[in-house]
Amino acid sequence: MRAAAERGADSVSVAAREDALTALASLVREDLEACNRLIVARMQSPVELIPKIGAYIIAAGGKRLRPLLTIAAARLCGYRGLRHVKLAACVEFIHTATLLHDDVVDESAVRRGLASANAVFGNKASVLVGDFLFSRSFELMVEDGSLAVLGILSRASATIAEGEVLQLMTQNDLATTEERYLEVIHGKTAALFAAAARLGAVAADRPREEEEALERFGLKLGLAFQLADDLLDYAADPKRLGKAVGDDFREGKVTLPVLLAYARGDEEERAFWRRTIEELDQRDGDLDTAIALMRRHGAFAETARRAQALAEEAKAELALFPERPEKRALLAVAEFAADRTR
Ligand code: IPE
Ligand code: IPE
Ligand code: MG
Ligand code: MG
Repeated sequence: MRAAAERGADSVSVAAREDALTALASLVREDLEACNRLIVARMQSPVELIPKIGAYIIAAGGKRLRPLLTIAAARLCGYRGLRHVKLAACVEFIHTATLLHDDVVDESAVRRGLASANAVFGNKASVLVGDFLFSRSFELMVEDGSLAVLGILSRASATIAEGEVLQLMTQNDLATTEERYLEVIHGKTAALFAAAARLGAVAADRPREEEEALERFGLKLGLAFQLADDLLDYAADPKRLGKAVGDDFREGKVTLPVLLAYARGDEEERAFWRRTIEELDQRDGDLDTAIALMRRHGAFAETARRAQALAEEAKAELALFPERPEKRALLAVAEFAADRTR
């Protein structure tokens, strides 16, 4: 794992990664298909630009990881109804809305292997359609009719926004602590994973203990997932990632690989980080230098190790659930969240 992480992307993990997600998706295929149909049906609007951008980003793909968590968690809890399909669609709508907004804020040009919606349709359209998808998600929740669900997803939405704003405040600031960084990724990413998993138990009307165990599972999985994402932003093959490599560097985002390389660097290296990350004075070759410094100081290996440790903690949260195929699939997905760093 360590050697592989230092090498950056390799081909071994493609199979492992696709296996875990494909296995889960095929286990709950009918539910996932129903969720995808609902997403397409409910992103419709007489205002043509809305379904046009909606179809663009949804047809581009996406792993559907969060709705898969909701669906699998509900099935793990023994749920046999259909309510979880709607909740899974709500979660994916919120996720898609945040991606539309995030790519505007991050000025990202590539998403899901295609030109990003902001690159194709412009920032204004992306922001407004993101707002539509958010609002549509809340309409769906009201149709479901549960105040508990509304509470969980409205809180998660506010937490995501807080995480994105907190990230803005830590950007270009190398005095950011690791705790702060963890708060950012908790907010912007892990909170929605936590809500997605918890909703499975809510749909199944399971005891509080199971709800909370699933919430902690989702939270830790989400943290692992974002740690891996922050590593991949430097170390991945862009074709496989479906996003540009180096976006975080260009924006001066203070992620764990940067914090580790900065803390472990000598005075000259620290001056490099201050110039590139804090002053955003970047020149040709700086991204390669940043990657070389991260490798030299074991920043990728340490980030990967932390992601794996969190994935293990996530897995332990499922101990109280019975052995079911859904449990095995969720355990494998937790490993995938960290293992995609290979
Ligand atoms: C992207 O999430 C945003 C992050 C939290 C890193 P995903 O990697 O799950 O995005 P899609 O839906 O599969 O494109
Ligand atoms: C992901 O943040 C979190 C949200 C989209 C809210 P990132 O900025 O790290 O994700 P990518 O790299 O754009 O997918
Ligand atoms: Mg981004
Ligand atoms: Mg990123």
